Amino acid sequence: MSDNPRIGVDSYLEWLKGEGIPTVEDFGVDLFTVDTRPWARLGVNGAAVHLKGRGDFVSMFVLDLAPGAATSPQRHLYEEVLYVLSGRGSTTIEAADGRKHTFEWGPKSLFAIPLNTRYRHFNGSGSEKALLVTTTSLPAVLNMFHNEVFVFDNPYSFEERMGQSKYFSGEGDFIPALPGQHMWETNFVPDLAAIELKAWDERGAGSKNIMFILADGTMHAHISEMQIGTYKKAHRHGADFHVICVTGKGYSLFWYEGQPDFHRVSWQHGTVFAPPDQMFHQHFNAALSVHRQQAQVADRRRRGRPEAGRRFDQRETGRRADRIRGPVAADPRAIPGRNAQSGRRGEHARVPLSAACSRRAGGRTAVRSAQ
Ligand SMILES: [Fe+2]
Repeated sequence: MSDNPRIGVDSYLEWLKGEGIPTVEDFGVDLFTVDTRPWARLGVNGAAVHLKGRGDFVSMFVLDLAPGAATSPQRHLYEEVLYVLSGRGSTTIEAADGRKHTFEWGPKSLFAIPLNTRYRHFNGSGSEKALLVTTTSLPAVLNMFHNEVFVFDNPYSFEERMGQSKYFSGEGDFIPALPGQHMWETNFVPDLAAIELKAWDERGAGSKNIMFILADGTMHAHISEMQIGTYKKAHRHGADFHVICVTGKGYSLFWYEGQPDFHRVSWQHGTVFAPPDQMFHQHFNAALSVHRQQAQVADRRRRGRPEAGRRFDQRETGRRADRIRGPVAADPRAIPGRNAQSGRRGEHARVPLSAACSRRAGGRTAVRSAQ
C-alpha cells in the first residue's frame, strides 16, 4: 500500500496550484480590486476568484490585459462566459475549419466562447488596460475527467455550438416563453446595461429580466432589473449562481434559516457574490437609479431534464417554503413580498427603503440604509 494514497483529490484545485496565479476567496468580491499576476498559460495577468457560495460546477477568473496586450491562443473542453468590467478590445474565435469570427467589446459586454474553439482576446487600447471576468465550468470538467490533455488539447470539434454568424455581431433570436423565462439566444451581448429586458409583472413593481442562451451552452446567464426603491423578496436556491452587479448600488442580506444574524454584502458595478446553497438572501436597491444584476449559472435553458434544471431555480418548483411570506412580526428578516402601493404579491416590492430598514431594526440585527 502506498504511503501517500491519493484520496480526496480536487483535480481543479490541484491544477490551479500549478498555474501560479493568486486566488481570492470571499463571500463577495469587488472584481476591480483583485490582485492579478502573470499567467503563463494566457500570456496576460490573471487571478482566480472563489466565492464562498460556489458549488462544484463553476469558478471565476479575472483577466487583466495591459494596454495593447493579447492573450495567447486558448482552446479547452469547458464552457466560458465572459463579462467586460472595463476597457475596449476584441475577441477572435476560430472554428475547426478555419472560419473566424471577430467581435469588438466594451464595458459591460457579455459573451461566450463556443465549446472547444480556439480564441484570443485583444486589448484594443494602447493606453488603458482591459479587465474581463470569466465564469467557467472548468471545476466540473476537470474533476470529471481529471486529465489535462483531454481538457486542454482535445481536437474534437463541436461545430453545432458555433451558432449563426449574426450571433457574433450583437444580434440574436428572441425565444418567447412565460414571463420571467423569455430567452435571447446569441453569443455576444454588446452592453448589458442597454439590452432590452422583458416585463415580469408577476414578480412585482417594474421587474424585468431576460434569460440568455449563449453559444448553445449548458451554462446560462440571465439579467434582471430592480427599479428605484425596491427590494427583491427573500428567497433561496442551490449554489453556483455567480451574481455580478451591472448598474446601481445597494446591498444584499444572507442568512440560513433559523440564524439570528445576517451576513451583508454591499455592491456596485463589478461586485460579485454567490448565495450559498439554500441560504436565504434578499437584495435591496439603495440608489436613485435602476439596478441590473446578471447571474452566470451552471444550468440549462434549452437542454436536459427540466426538473433537473429546477434544482437551481426555486421559482419553478413551487416550493413556497423557499420564499419568505411571513409577517414581519414573526420574522423581522422577512419583509413581506406585498407591493405597498398595489397590494399585489410579488418577488419585488416597492417600499421606502428607510421604512424597510427601520422594520429590520426591530430584529436582532439593525441594518442601516446604504442611501
Ligand atoms: Fe437568488
